[in-house]
Amino acid sequence: MLITMKRTRWCGWRLSFTAFVVVNFLPGGYSDSDPIENCKPKGGETILCNDRTEICRKLNLAVIYDVENYCSKGEVPYFNPAFICNCDVICVGALEEGAECSMNFANDYPKDLCGNGLDCISNGRTYTCQRNHMKPCVNRTIAYENAAADGMLSPGLLLPACSDIGKYGPVQCSTSSTCYCTDTDGNRLFGEAAYTEKDAMDCQCSLHWQRNDKLGLTEGMRCLSNGNLDSLQCNEDFCFCYNSTKKAIDQGPYHPTMMKLLDCYNESYHSPNYTNPCTVAEQLYLQQNPEDADSIAIGISLKPNCSLDGFFAAIQSHEENDFICADSNGKQIENFQFSVAEKPKMTCNCARRRHVMRQAGLDAFLPECCPNGNFKSRQTRGLYSFCVDGNGDQVGEAKYATEDIDCGGDCVE
Ligand SMILES: *[C@@H]1O[C@H](CO)[C@@H](O)[C@H](O)[C@H]1NC(C)=O
Ligand SMILES: *[C@@H]1O[C@H](CO)[C@@H](O)[C@H](O)[C@H]1NC(C)=O
Ligand SMILES: *[C@@H]1O[C@H](CO)[C@@H](O)[C@H](O)[C@H]1NC(C)=O
Ligand SMILES: *[C@@H]1O[C@H](CO)[C@@H](O)[C@H](O)[C@H]1NC(C)=O
Ligand SMILES: *[C@@H]1O[C@H](CO)[C@@H](O)[C@H](O)[C@H]1NC(C)=O
Repeated sequence: MLITMKRTRWCGWRLSFTAFVVVNFLPGGYSDSDPIENCKPKGGETILCNDRTEICRKLNLAVIYDVENYCSKGEVPYFNPAFICNCDVICVGALEEGAECSMNFANDYPKDLCGNGLDCISNGRTYTCQRNHMKPCVNRTIAYENAAADGMLSPGLLLPACSDIGKYGPVQCSTSSTCYCTDTDGNRLFGEAAYTEKDAMDCQCSLHWQRNDKLGLTEGMRCLSNGNLDSLQCNEDFCFCYNSTKKAIDQGPYHPTMMKLLDCYNESYHSPNYTNPCTVAEQLYLQQNPEDADSIAIGISLKPNCSLDGFFAAIQSHEENDFICADSNGKQIENFQFSVAEKPKMTCNCARRRHVMRQAGLDAFLPECCPNGNFKSRQTRGLYSFCVDGNGDQVGEAKYATEDIDCGGDCVE
């Protein structure tokens, strides 16, 4: 049974277990004999420089796994420009907001730099460390703080999680509803969980797939529904435990028949053949429709839409020309349904958030959805009403619920 298990999206990469796993997802561009040449930036970040770990190893430089936590408190990392791919990191003093800073250290290492989240910005003559309003994530943080200071902090306002350089961090949480994964520009990626589970969420698998999709790779690691990497990873030949903090294999490889002996095998979550419900349904569909995997089957079954965790995606074909918003087991959520004509605008983000919140017992503030599963443009929670974006997060200012508020249309499109 296991030997005949079909290759799935996350299976079948050419594993060499001695190397860093992610290297195996890179196309054949990497050359042992000339790593430096391959690593020169081509208009920004190169594919290979994304894999700093492996490059630094080749250059016999220290591999710093966790740059964010590398320096002590009161220090920030400075990437030594003398080494390619930011291979060498030194820690320098962190300046506080408002402190004077310098942009001119061409001949020497800087002694200190603006602390995390701050940029060295000109105030006419002098430069000081400031939060950069031009960065959307920073701007939104400031809007949140201003609302709090004005006593207008409605529960729909997102306190965004920004990275040290002011881009969006991977996990965004809406107060007392759900957290979801985003790219650095704040665009939604796969992965959502109840707000109460936010501490466990890192979205590393969603980021891994974003990178793979950019590179045109169709194989990679399997995710959990919250966007984290599943610590158990299997292909048809091997299973192993992967530790996403260490970015390394903790245990294995084992033959798939011995999967259960791995410490990361979780009886309540993993099936003995490492398949999940949508993958099973997809394999069945492909067996019934071997000729044309992309056509809509007539009279047999509809092609399941699987997500990166092997469960069902939010949007599923229903009857001819119809779609439903589904839970991760493929079951319709409430009555959410829409036609093929509406599909380009549909996300089912509201339907899914309602479902995830219900599952977690967070029934008090369920968002209001349109019949097609998108958010209603105007949401009311407690004393406040506000307009929301496609993720259900507040845009603009909140008003008292008794006041009029124009959100431009009933449903967010
Ligand atoms: C920053 O946010 C304000 C609202 O708080 C908005 O008017 C402004 O356009 C934003 N600026 C940028 C650069 O996004
Ligand atoms: C992963 O590695 C980190 C750091 O070495 C360790 O603290 C953590 O317990 C490991 N996680 C698992 C699930 O083994
Ligand atoms: C196994 O998975 C369940 C549900 O995902 C989780 O609650 C539990 O803590 C996990 N057990 C171990 C030993 O990791
Ligand atoms: C894998 O196991 C699950 C349940 O344990 C079962 O429903 C499914 O049919 C199995 N799939 C394969 C390909 O053996
Ligand atoms: C599958 O689901 C995703 C996420 O809900 C959606 O973006 C995509 O359009 C769906 N694909 C099909 C073919 O319905």
